[in-house]
Amino acid sequence: MEMAIVESTLDAEALTTMIAEAPKSISCKVYNGQIYVGILTRRPDNSHTTIFQYDANYKGPALCSTMPKGKELLRSQGLFPFFRNLVSEGWLEEAQKEVLIFYGTTISHFDILAHFGEDCIGAIRVVPCAKLPKRTGGILEHIGAKQAHRNSALVPGIQPKILMTEKADGEYVVSSRKTRSTHIAKLEHMAKTAHLDWSADDAPPPQDILCNEFVTTEVLRALLPEDQTCAVELKYLDTIKQEALLIKRFDRDDEGNPIACYELNQLLGKNTDEKYDGYYKDIADFIRKHATGTVVDGIRTNLGDIEVLFKRLLATILVENGDAHMKNFALLQKGDEFRLSPNYDSVSCARPSYKKLSGMALKIGYPAKDTLAMEQIKPKHIVALARDLGLLSETPTLEEVSNIASIVNEIVGRAKTICAILEGKGDVHQFPNLAKIMDASIFGAEKTTAISCLTRRWNGSLAGVDMFMNKTLLKPQAAVHPKKFVMPDISLRKVL
Ligand SMILES: Nc1ncnc2c1ncn2[C@@H]1O[C@H](COP(=O)(O)OP(=O)(O)OP(=O)(O)O)[C@@H](O)[C@H]1O
Ligand SMILES: [Mg+2]
Repeated sequence: MEMAIVESTLDAEALTTMIAEAPKSISCKVYNGQIYVGILTRRPDNSHTTIFQYDANYKGPALCSTMPKGKELLRSQGLFPFFRNLVSEGWLEEAQKEVLIFYGTTISHFDILAHFGEDCIGAIRVVPCAKLPKRTGGILEHIGAKQAHRNSALVPGIQPKILMTEKADGEYVVSSRKTRSTHIAKLEHMAKTAHLDWSADDAPPPQDILCNEFVTTEVLRALLPEDQTCAVELKYLDTIKQEALLIKRFDRDDEGNPIACYELNQLLGKNTDEKYDGYYKDIADFIRKHATGTVVDGIRTNLGDIEVLFKRLLATILVENGDAHMKNFALLQKGDEFRLSPNYDSVSCARPSYKKLSGMALKIGYPAKDTLAMEQIKPKHIVALARDLGLLSETPTLEEVSNIASIVNEIVGRAKTICAILEGKGDVHQFPNLAKIMDASIFGAEKTTAISCLTRRWNGSLAGVDMFMNKTLLKPQAAVHPKKFVMPDISLRKVL
């Protein structure tokens, strides 16, 4: 469905007046849930400096390690990375800019945060201290700008997406200030919505993006049955008259209350455009640092998540997801701990339209200089990854080696079972969620891609990890026959 473009109703003179009157300095109150944390201000000069000051009565932890508490004012050139990571990117950023045209051509991330930061991912809320200029102009027929006009919510990520609310009758409506969002809807196809002046050069714009994410997510759910993967559904949404991938928000409880949640990029103090920099090791190091003893920066993690991360990364390799960057991992509050959030934003980059993302998004094997293409990943890199995450020590014990071998063999076993099911030869009851893929003809291409990725990677990257470890890590007398590691997969035997 093509949407009509409606020109702004403002004439040039009115617009010039609005731009001249737009506030140069804005202050916002920052809350963590209901707790008032401090004040964020943009300086009135043109220096793009932002200032943050913790409130004197605030007793909670620092927002993050790069914004320590103290009497000093904190300053940042541009927005602090902690806040920048909350701000929309790509399509939604441009849609929100459409209704802020009174700031002229240089609408900053601060402006977007000040106008739309009341409902961010997680529990941080940014509320302007004074009334801001009324949103206006723009191409209001455009679904993104329409949402931007009526809602004060932010969600990062490049892909076109809008926030939806599930009503009591099961219907979904575009969220507004009164109806907080319960779901994120990724939109079907940029061409249908790309009336905004935004080039998709940096982003994968394939038409099959929703089917790809749906199938990849379900394959991951089957590969990682003990892990959590976000709930996704492909649905035609009446209110916006198009197909969408509806993703249930894990940072909201059943009553819609926010649950604290931070992307790793945010926790590591990186800016949004640095999300492809670094090592998977950085995530494990963060978890390890915050898991021991006292709570650091209000975050206590759980060491068990490092193994969860390792399994996720093996699954990431198996489905050839080349977009597992620092904004695609998050920590979510669970009781008094921060645990890895459910898996989200998983796409297989083996499809031709994803060529740009054909390797791992982050580096493996510290201090490697480059990321690896999928076909470069060999058993030695899987071992390097286990070392990076601290699951194999400098001189690994037999127990550590056995553990890694069992993890690899178990996931390869599952990958084989999943392939057999997708090929129509297996018993779908073992992974009932795969039935959704089996039954629908629209997933034909994605199913074929999934089968070929899984097969390529278990043969090309994961096969022989146990042998490699035996040969290189263990003393000859301690070497364990690989058979000892093999986890017999009864279901798999039945299938084959
Ligand atoms: N189910 C969820 N619940 C809560 N927050 C989520 C959920 N899924 C994603 N998010 C948050 O929304 C952000 C954007 O979502 P997502 O990564 O799926 O979008 P994207 O546009 O595909 O991103 P990218 O730019 O990485 O391609 C994530 O970085 C994360 O902070
Ligand atoms: Mg993402």
